[in-house]
Amino acid sequence: MVIVMAPEATQDDVEAIVELVATAGGEAFASRGVSRTIIGLIGDVDQFTALNLRGMRGVADVVRVSAPYKLVSRGNHPDRSTVTVRGVPIGPDTVTLIAGPCAVETPQQTLEAATMAKAAGATLLRGGAYKPRTSPYAFQGLGEAGLRILADVREETGLPIVTEVVDAHDVALVASYADMLQVGTRNAQNFALLQAVGAAGRPVMLKRGMTATIEEWLMAAEYIAQRGNLDIVLCERGIRTYETATRNTLDISAVPVVQRLSHLPVIVDPSHSGGRRDLVLPLTRAAIAIGADGLIIDVHPNPDQALCDGPQALVDGDLAELAAVMRDFPALVNRTLT
Ligand code: E4P
Ligand code: PEP
Repeated sequence: MVIVMAPEATQDDVEAIVELVATAGGEAFASRGVSRTIIGLIGDVDQFTALNLRGMRGVADVVRVSAPYKLVSRGNHPDRSTVTVRGVPIGPDTVTLIAGPCAVETPQQTLEAATMAKAAGATLLRGGAYKPRTSPYAFQGLGEAGLRILADVREETGLPIVTEVVDAHDVALVASYADMLQVGTRNAQNFALLQAVGAAGRPVMLKRGMTATIEEWLMAAEYIAQRGNLDIVLCERGIRTYETATRNTLDISAVPVVQRLSHLPVIVDPSHSGGRRDLVLPLTRAAIAIGADGLIIDVHPNPDQALCDGPQALVDGDLAELAAVMRDFPALVNRTLT
């Protein structure tokens, strides 16, 4: 059940509802948007019905929803949302480029990659300090030392940081450096982690699980929203199919499908989906054309030496073309580059 508060509802009105729901053995989580607050209820719907919530002060509507996700549903929030990361918007009017190294390796490599990203039009810097690797023998990331490098590079370039957190216990630490927390495909249904990032007070980028249906992906986002955080950006990064020519299969149709089902912004990762440098620009064009709200792209100054995912990283020679795509394509779909 979801309670939609009227625009003029006060904090006291919201708290009165949270308390009343608790008397019926339920839990209520308020998500504050720009124009209104939505309260998601967990518990016995029949008990809630007896509470006469519709009569409470400040309540605009009480919705008994059939879709399994509520707070992230477009049905309850018809306008598409814009998520702002340290002043950089990701939403329906713009195309935002997030770029940087797959993994933070050294201060110099990270600074060079950030400089490349900025030159191509990026306004947010990606880079993993905690790397979720298939092999326990592969480079796992620099941990907090990597976060410190990212913070220094932010200082130097002015680019806010998007970085992954892989363990619920590290959320507070990563959030103390990051401007946006990333939850990767391998953790997309790690519910304890989703709840922890939902409570961390930072925007979250949630990648689609590599075998997740769209409904499962939105349910994962609902875990974050339920903790009071609606600043969620969804990222389509390719799914597992029988095809082996690409690392994953970019489900490009997921972009408009999800935008109809959810008010959350949707971006595309052409690097991890194709897994091949030569596919990044074609997939980027496709993503902008279909209406993606942004891109997240790997770049590396020296991908032959990269400790993670070198074959998919754009190099210096690709940047002029990426910059041209970012300059010209958003206008074709009535958007501006953020
Ligand atoms: C993302 O950057 C992941 O850590 C990386 O793609 C995992 O790759 P792997 O399966 O080779 O470890
Ligand atoms: C990443 O972007 O660093 C990453 C780990 O990607 P994914 O979770 O999509 O594999």
